[in-house]
Amino acid sequence: MKKRSSRGQHTLAREYFVSNDIFAAEHERIFLRSWLLAGHVSQLQEPGSYFLFEIEHESVIVLRDGAGEIRAFHNHCRHRGSRLCRETSGVLGAAIQCPYHAWSYGLDGALRNVPMMNDVAGFDAADYPLHRVALTNWQGFLFVNLADQPLAFADALPGLAGRFGAWQPSELRAVHREVYDVEANWKMFFHNFSECYHCPLAHPVLNKLAPFRNSENDLEEGPVLGGPMWMNNSEGSMTIGGERCAPAFAGLNDEQRGRVYYYTLFPGAFLSFHPDYVLVHRVQPLAIGRTRIVCEWFFHPSAIATPGFDPQPAIALWDMTNRQDWELCVNAYRGVVSRVWRAGPYSELESQLAAFDRQYLRALGIGSESQNIPLRMV
Ligand code: FES
Ligand SMILES: [Fe+2]
Repeated sequence: MKKRSSRGQHTLAREYFVSNDIFAAEHERIFLRSWLLAGHVSQLQEPGSYFLFEIEHESVIVLRDGAGEIRAFHNHCRHRGSRLCRETSGVLGAAIQCPYHAWSYGLDGALRNVPMMNDVAGFDAADYPLHRVALTNWQGFLFVNLADQPLAFADALPGLAGRFGAWQPSELRAVHREVYDVEANWKMFFHNFSECYHCPLAHPVLNKLAPFRNSENDLEEGPVLGGPMWMNNSEGSMTIGGERCAPAFAGLNDEQRGRVYYYTLFPGAFLSFHPDYVLVHRVQPLAIGRTRIVCEWFFHPSAIATPGFDPQPAIALWDMTNRQDWELCVNAYRGVVSRVWRAGPYSELESQLAAFDRQYLRALGIGSESQNIPLRMV
């Protein structure tokens, strides 16, 4: 087994968890520049279907147009700014009509119908399409990027190349979604997901299925981090009773059938590939000390269509584990905000947290492996 190392790092300094200036810098420099997991193609089954992806002041419409193409636009009108879609998901007709003065946009974003603007000198509807948002469909997962000139997806998340096709992610469908609003800084959820040091004490059921030492990281630096854990029962899965809820994905080899592959995608997603299902967490910062986590359980349609299909054992295990983790994060956050708390040393089992912190500091533009950063640099 490869030896992992936290390189003697300490956690990030307290200010990174409590400063609103840092939170604003994170939003500008990280979340508005990164590829963010917004949803999955299965949410856009028919032409005209859409869902909203929202972060801070931004709202993005992700839709499937009449020709089947998936597109993303800012959810505001080019006239006086009104939000266009107000429901978080739905099916549009052939056009998106603004609820204020009825300007209408095609699903390609073009402004098509503009009541009573004919006599405005120099007005040309072609000058006012919806603002586009960059979108990438990676194996069915839809990522958006709010930057003016985003880094190409493959360059931004190179660790994803050539992986995970065996789970057929583009064919999957979510059977369940849980939304958790939790009182802790968003980075603490990343940290928590990135180690199993806490598993023996905090997750007795999970730790029995895949003991905390049964792990190896195959991506140890950069925006995609993680690796496999092997289960005690190579014919089972991570469920409340340890049995699979569905047959293993057809494309998996014997080794993959006995493992769970856990990866974090900087800055806001965790993907967990089980033999019979895929678990997705999305982390959305709401404030310096408040975070929304959206968790979804994806199965193959052929499993879902099988009589007697029951995903509850998978849902129950992870909902329980999530709640155990969120409680740990809240409790840790309550300590970290103390004026007396100082950065603590990472164990070698926390090498992925140290790697996350390096990636985080690079993305923030600090570009240093030191945590003792003067705040004026942020
Ligand atoms: S704000 Fe949309 S039509 Fe006026
Ligand atoms: Fe945990």
